[in-house]
Amino acid sequence: MEKLFVKFNNSPIGELYHEAGKGYSFIYDDKWMRSPDGFSLSPVLDKNIKTHASYVGNFFQNLLPEGKALDDLSAYTRVSKSNVMALLAHSGKEIAGAIEISRHKKISTTPLIPFREVTQKELNERILSRDTMPFTVWDKKVRFSIAGYQDKQCFFKDKNGKMYLADGEITSNIIIKLNSVNPHIQNIVANEHFCMQVAKKIGLNIPNSTYKKIPEPIFEVERFDRICQSDVTVERIHIVDGCQALGLPVSHKMERNFGNDRDVQDIREGVSYSLLFNLSERTNVPIKTKHDILDWAVFNYTIGNSDAHGKNISFFMNPEGPELAPYYDLVSTEIYESVVDEMAMAIGDQFVAANVEAYDWITLANENKIPLSVLERTLNKYSYAIVNAATEELKNEIYSPEDQKVLNKVLEIIQNRTQCLISFTDAVRDEVKENQCIRIK
Ligand SMILES: Nc1ncnc2c1ncn2[C@@H]1O[C@H](COP(=O)(O)OP(=O)(O)O)[C@@H](O)[C@H]1O
Ligand SMILES: [Mg+2]
Repeated sequence: MEKLFVKFNNSPIGELYHEAGKGYSFIYDDKWMRSPDGFSLSPVLDKNIKTHASYVGNFFQNLLPEGKALDDLSAYTRVSKSNVMALLAHSGKEIAGAIEISRHKKISTTPLIPFREVTQKELNERILSRDTMPFTVWDKKVRFSIAGYQDKQCFFKDKNGKMYLADGEITSNIIIKLNSVNPHIQNIVANEHFCMQVAKKIGLNIPNSTYKKIPEPIFEVERFDRICQSDVTVERIHIVDGCQALGLPVSHKMERNFGNDRDVQDIREGVSYSLLFNLSERTNVPIKTKHDILDWAVFNYTIGNSDAHGKNISFFMNPEGPELAPYYDLVSTEIYESVVDEMAMAIGDQFVAANVEAYDWITLANENKIPLSVLERTLNKYSYAIVNAATEELKNEIYSPEDQKVLNKVLEIIQNRTQCLISFTDAVRDEVKENQCIRIK
């Protein structure tokens, strides 16, 4: 039987087991179960229950990267992509959230390895040589395991702006994401920064991020699951993504988990707005969480982000329960013709953003017990706010003429969707009035 230790700040949380043919199990540590500061790994892995078998494999598999990053991790560790235990044993010290996974029971609190600085020059060279050396591999080692497809790397950045390699003993506090090597996905770094800034301008909760040219373009975002305590001490905060929170596997990050072929498109067992709204009920402030998820849905619809799936939303796992984390990975994907123009989660029953009507928003609200007055307020609030913020952000001098070309396409989508939001607001308002009349009668 394979075994890994799961820890938080050197304290044992529990032990993860895998037996070929039998599957996974997780056993919480007794002290952790009793501790008032101990958190559950996820809402479906309650720390008040000692032994878990269901959802365990899904939870840990969700900690691995996807796409090429998973290929690279597998190639560099010479471990099969399906061997979750071995891959986590290699890279489980620097993952999303607070937990560390290792083959050893103890971890030292003082860094055993010296700080290894990464200069901008080296970073730039590594970006340019991505076709010969994967960006996730530094000093012959894959240093982290974080979900997603885009090329990225975690670093520790000190107060003076110097960056260092991180791999658990030195804890990362930033993520750097790069432009895609796919020529059809142009200027995604500028796109992400633009969308994040627009979100910030309209008051959505997003982490601090910057767009830099070193001279290669990079998107740098502060990790919201890390807090810098001193010059070198970084505190970790536990988070789970939507799939983990719901106990679903990576394969269910899209609502249509079998894809959109005609014979399977009605199978909708993946992460959906309904499942997320349901999950809101388990947070400390369910109504606020619901409103925040509705904000996220309206924002993604407006910017044309069809990639708002179950791994692009996260929750802090506080001892009192889950709490929605800041938004991230806000990108207008619809501008790229090579990306499927179907949203990861339906609004009502509609998966194609261009076909969404007021009725679909009303269905989403009614099915999830969101008062139509709240929907109306939300649609109205964002009708002008997003387009105004986007128009202003486009004036930012950081964007090159090439970026501007791409961002103008984003603005065009936002302008079109704004017209839709205005008409939806009117339609929902009419529906609210009609309901009031029926109630009075
Ligand atoms: N600012 C952040 N703080 C903490 N974790 C983050 C942050 N941004 C992203 N993540 C984590 O990293 C993962 C990958 O990041 P994401 O931006 O979604 O990359 P990709 O574009 O490759 O999907 C996310 O699923 C989330 O778990
Ligand atoms: Mg993502």
